[in-house]
Amino acid sequence: MKKILITGGAGFIGSHVVRLFVNKYPQHQIYNLDKLTYAGNLFNLTDIEKKPNYHFIKADIVDGEHMMKLFEEYKFDSVIHLAAESHVDRSISNPMEFVLTNVIGTVNLLNAARHNWQNDFEGKRFYHISTDEVYGSLGAVGFFTETTSYDPHSPYSASKASSDHMVRAYHDTYNLPIVISNCSNNYGPNQFPEKLIPLFINNIRHNKSLPVYGKGENIRDWLYVVDHARAIDVIFHKGMDGETYNIGGNNEWKNIDLIKVMCKIMDEKLGRPTGTSERLITYVKDRAGHDMRYAIDSGKLQRELDWTPSLQFEEGIRITIEWYLTNQEWLDEVTSGNYLKYYEEQYVER
Ligand code: NAD
Ligand code: DAU
Repeated sequence: MKKILITGGAGFIGSHVVRLFVNKYPQHQIYNLDKLTYAGNLFNLTDIEKKPNYHFIKADIVDGEHMMKLFEEYKFDSVIHLAAESHVDRSISNPMEFVLTNVIGTVNLLNAARHNWQNDFEGKRFYHISTDEVYGSLGAVGFFTETTSYDPHSPYSASKASSDHMVRAYHDTYNLPIVISNCSNNYGPNQFPEKLIPLFINNIRHNKSLPVYGKGENIRDWLYVVDHARAIDVIFHKGMDGETYNIGGNNEWKNIDLIKVMCKIMDEKLGRPTGTSERLITYVKDRAGHDMRYAIDSGKLQRELDWTPSLQFEEGIRITIEWYLTNQEWLDEVTSGNYLKYYEEQYVER
């Protein structure tokens, strides 16, 4: 029996990881630690919240003393660390929040694990979930590999890069048994509608304009969130201590092409004449420091740990759109309150 701490388990990716682990490993106790920021939502987990091996702890990873006490009380033997501020645009307007949660919060967890495990690392693992954005931006060709130099450009990616360095430093200096993965853009159910795909689904639903940054030519590599959760499971169980694994969908899309595919599916699903949603596309001022292209080489993970994405994008995007349309209450709930103020500042005042 393991006691696995999953941080950020009420968020988008975290909730899929918690669900997978709670259902797949009834012999393990799963502790979901989350501050419940605007991005954390316990409604994401109603299907598993009553399972005997699931536990929720509301806490802020920036509170180092509290982290230390929780480790002492619960004696976690593994950590899967997803809690973070995750939206690039928010990092541009409020970088300090990203330094606090993503850097200080991660170091607090590293300290708590190190102190509690007392150099007895048998059966212990600290798994840090990171992003491909730490590698910076690619030109027209090439892929990010695990040895690509770090070159972050936004406060978000710089804070994630800092946390990755701290995690590796705790391995090299204190032998803490760590593993890191860096993943490309996720999409799927339960993503907060500030990110491109759910934002545009929600805007089309309300006949609101679709704010495309710059010329819409930036490229992202999209992976279905459940495939990311499957990769995390594989790396947690089979990854080598001290190693890094890149995770990606091998599925590059220019933003504008992706948006047009979504518009077409939305017209079909909402029974609107073809072309209705595309007319909502509005080109707006580019994001500051906007990375041009991300593309992941996930060959190491495929070769060494036998993981491959299970879902083709054409199917995944349909499932995703269907989910948001059948869960409009979820969308309405998370886009009320503070979200309205954020939206106004981010888009209307441009
Ligand atoms: P998210 O914003 O949906 O969820 C983040 C969660 O962390 C929320 O539940 C939030 O309440 C919690 N949280 C934030 N600050 C906290 C704090 N101080 N203490 C405790 N909990 C706190 O994020 P996501 O998209 O699910 O991303 C999860 C992780 O995966 C992040 O580390 C992110 O950098 C990484 N990642 C995301 C993507 C992506 O495409 N979304 C891709 C690669 C890596
Ligand atoms: O690559 C992994 C990263 O993917 C994760 O680490 C981040 O947590 C996650 O938010 C995501 O970052 P991006 O910046 O790539 O995702 P976002 O959905 O914000 O934007 C995707 C692309 O769409 C990007 O080129 C910017 C563009 N965009 C985004 C928004 C919100 C627009 O054109 N208009 C928009 O309104």
